[in-house]
Amino acid sequence: MSTIPVMIPWLGEEEAEAAAEAVRSGWVAQGPRVAAFERAFAEAVGVPHAVAVSSCTTALHLAMIGAGAGPGDEVVVPSLSFIATANAVTYVGATPVFADVDPVTGNLTPETVAPLLTDRTRAVVAVDQGGVPVDLDAIRALAEPRGITVVEDAACAAGSLLRGRPAGAGAEIAAYSFHPRKLLTTGEGGMVTCRDAGLAARLRRLREHGMSVSAADRHAGAGGAGVVETYDEIGFNHRMTDVQAAIGLVQLGKLPAMVARRRELAAHYRESLGRSWPPGWSTTRRTAAPTSSRSGCGCPRTPPTAARS
Ligand SMILES: Cc1ncc(COP(=O)(O)O)c(C=O)c1O
Repeated sequence: MSTIPVMIPWLGEEEAEAAAEAVRSGWVAQGPRVAAFERAFAEAVGVPHAVAVSSCTTALHLAMIGAGAGPGDEVVVPSLSFIATANAVTYVGATPVFADVDPVTGNLTPETVAPLLTDRTRAVVAVDQGGVPVDLDAIRALAEPRGITVVEDAACAAGSLLRGRPAGAGAEIAAYSFHPRKLLTTGEGGMVTCRDAGLAARLRRLREHGMSVSAADRHAGAGGAGVVETYDEIGFNHRMTDVQAAIGLVQLGKLPAMVARRRELAAHYRESLGRSWPPGWSTTRRTAAPTSSRSGCGCPRTPPTAARS
């Protein structure tokens, strides 16, 4: 009997060399490579702002603060997700409310979310389950007229597209994971993206103890010689290191090839396992409607109507 690993990170000499260069540079904490990774990631996803953090869990924590969730608020999350999605809601003192998911995509839909919205609902966290992009626009159309923020938990979805748009690009705030079980890895790491410049600036401060001027900027003399930073709200140490970012920059360049390979593997598994599938079992599929979507999880193109049931 052979063992099939859940994931083998696609790491090689290029990543090793990039990490070594970061070490040789003498700057290993959050610095120029983190800034470069943020710019490259924002460009790849097509969002104005990307803030690198230590994990998707910390990205979700900042996203909850950005959404204004706090004690007394409810945040709708999928009943099917990794525990970090709901944990992040509790970090800010809000209450997670669990919504059913579509059995085909594994994702929230307006129909599963609508009955749970109350006047205490502050946000909805829509997960791209296994990298299958959630129909974010449909959730936003439901939530935003009621003043509810939709956060996309795109932990597994770097490289996924829906209707030609990268996962996370349509969200006010989105969170990504670079844990080795994901396609693009930095060892540990995450990214929070957003559309609002003021929010991005706040998230940058919050990930670094709430400092008004980052350590890297102070070192570079930004803000003038001898600038003294202020701490205007309670922050956290959610920083990414330059060693991680150096690896991430190489991995980002490989992402299209990694998505293509994962799709090939998914098709192979589906074909091979499909013949011996137990009755009632099926795999999740990408969202039904568009033909131009693609998923970082490699879910194949078979339409949901063909799903075994
Ligand atoms: C949907 C989802 N959200 C959040 C996380 C947490 O990611 P991280 O390990 O980077 O904190 C995961 C990890 O698997 C996940 O699948």
